[in-house]
Amino acid sequence: MVSLYRLSKLRRSQRFSFNLSSSYREIDGFGSTSHLNSFLCWTQRAFYGSHFREDPSIDLSQYPSDRIRNFSIIAHVDHGKSTLADRLLELTGTIRKGHGQPQYLDKLQVERERGITVKAQTATMFHQHNYLGSNTNFLLNLIDTPGHVDFSYEVSRSLAACQGVLLVVDAAQGVQAQTVANFYLAFEANLAIIPVINKIDQPTADPDRVKEQLKSIFDLDPNDALLTSAKTGQGLDQVLPAVVERIPPPPGNSSSPLRMLLLDSYYDEYKGVICHVAVADGALRKGEKISSAATNQSYEVLDVGIMHPELTQTGVLLTGQVGYVVTGMRSTKEARVGDTLFHTRSIIEPLPGFKPVKHMVFSGLYPADGSDFESLSHAIERLTCNDASVSVTKESSTALGMGYRCGFLGLLHMDVFHQRLEQEHEAHVISTVPTVPYIFEFSDESKIHIQNPAMLPSNPKHRVTTCWEPTVIATIIIPSEYVGSIITLCSERRGEQLEYSFIDSQRALMKYRLPLREIVVDFYNELKSITSGYASFDYEEADYQISDLVKLDILLNGQPVDAMATIVHRSKAQRVGRELVDKLKKFIDRQMFEITIQAAIGSKVIARETVSAMRKNVLAKCYGGDVTRKKKLLEKQKEGKKRMKRIGSVDIPQEAFRELLKGS
Ligand code: GTP
Repeated sequence: MVSLYRLSKLRRSQRFSFNLSSSYREIDGFGSTSHLNSFLCWTQRAFYGSHFREDPSIDLSQYPSDRIRNFSIIAHVDHGKSTLADRLLELTGTIRKGHGQPQYLDKLQVERERGITVKAQTATMFHQHNYLGSNTNFLLNLIDTPGHVDFSYEVSRSLAACQGVLLVVDAAQGVQAQTVANFYLAFEANLAIIPVINKIDQPTADPDRVKEQLKSIFDLDPNDALLTSAKTGQGLDQVLPAVVERIPPPPGNSSSPLRMLLLDSYYDEYKGVICHVAVADGALRKGEKISSAATNQSYEVLDVGIMHPELTQTGVLLTGQVGYVVTGMRSTKEARVGDTLFHTRSIIEPLPGFKPVKHMVFSGLYPADGSDFESLSHAIERLTCNDASVSVTKESSTALGMGYRCGFLGLLHMDVFHQRLEQEHEAHVISTVPTVPYIFEFSDESKIHIQNPAMLPSNPKHRVTTCWEPTVIATIIIPSEYVGSIITLCSERRGEQLEYSFIDSQRALMKYRLPLREIVVDFYNELKSITSGYASFDYEEADYQISDLVKLDILLNGQPVDAMATIVHRSKAQRVGRELVDKLKKFIDRQMFEITIQAAIGSKVIARETVSAMRKNVLAKCYGGDVTRKKKLLEKQKEGKKRMKRIGSVDIPQEAFRELLKGS
């Protein structure tokens, strides 16, 4: 058994995990149906557009702190958080039963297409409860959080606005790696934890086994667990009473000067930046002047309200309440997540804010059409306002022109960011092969931090003496019959076993130190296929380790393509080089001349392929007269060219970049 003591040793500064559930696989699919898209765009606009409403029946002054409960729903992916949120919104009359779509709070098109939550969403509900012998109205702020570890920054930020959580566990799947990770986020934040064993309607549900796991892994009292089915509604009547009874009201002093924590923000075409805030102390009213502790800038409060679940103007937010504020901020540089906002006239101690984000994967983003750099900049500016966890710095590539180097929390995060750029901001991008951050030291004792492999000279002036790569501590939970295959997989990935134990009679927990690079690229796919989807995986950042790394260049007709360079472990360079060259050969169409594709370490070529020259041009068969056909072919060719990137004299389709990105 894994004791609470042993697991608590795993307390983490940051953690990451992968979900192995069925819906996650959808991330590789970029396909979608256009009618669904336009509907989803509409619903998104409905939420993020200028749809502010007034509800004169809401009087927030009736809800002092002791009548407020702020809680998050946390769980492993697909254990039913968003469905449970739907039911609670219905139970409180916040949304009408049967209206709206399932997983109501998953508003983004990318969330609905992929069936995952990527953005935490807050909804305020009003609920009457028999409390201490009398019927009392409560204001409940529910925050639905993402399950996938790449978005754990969203979870940790959400928890900063809460005093308790519903820890949802699937009654058939039991505790999974991200249940463990999310439990510790809540545990370390000192939040009240209400275990909810969901999906008890499933034929394979085994709530007693899950209760035992909750006891043995987290030391949670099995009698405290609520048994629910968010699908059939069974047991749901116990949830809100438990929230009111077991979660403490928010602390904070209503007579102290105003302090608000900026939790999140997004950009609205009409109103500018809309900030999501939690009022720690004092009160905020429309028309007041507030300042930012981070930037010292002052603003007038143009609008203030709650998410009920749409933006609902209230004119005021009081101590302990969570809502939105519009101040006329125009960019992300002004709306800093974790900032403290306060009345300009007062002097306050800023709130602690959030831990800085640690970016694990870096990739260059370039406009698919090189001339479109301005609109890419605009799109990135808008989107980073809604996703505070991406880092952005300008860079340029000889192959791709001007672009940005972006840091992400993981590959899924990177993928979702691309998709949102395309869907929400109509920006068409090419991204370079993702890389993890390395450190190289040279014989003159200089060191460089590499977030872009192109920055590492292929033939450096000084000899490389030492290289370091980031590692992670991975936690893998699997049915015991898969232990042997997992050991093989982890040793192939240069892993070092740290722990191997059983969480019950059927499931094993293994801990490995693994190089980050080995897990960001398709590790979880392999884990999933080896275990038929039964493994769950989570990881936390660990130290850098010394490693034998080399830079692998890709050359087209002898010219290195900086955007395709990558850094790999020497023992894998040959295989990776061969794979990259083969992939490129598949995606580069034949052109009017022969193309050689090479992978090289320094001046040594380790893999080579040739795309032979095309003999005829597209118009060759259009003898003289067929003008319409000629025109059509030329248009088709022009259209095709838009999706190409010319590198030297070679045209490379965007798909080639995407394919390289999928695993090297
Ligand atoms: P992420 O946001 O991706 O982390 O997922 P989630 O935890 O929010 O899960 P979600 O609510 O999206 O539910 C995942 C799937 O489980 C959906 O297909 C739901 O319909 C289904 N589901 C949720 N609750 C229940 C339940 O109580 N019983 C059954 N049988 N299915 C459920």
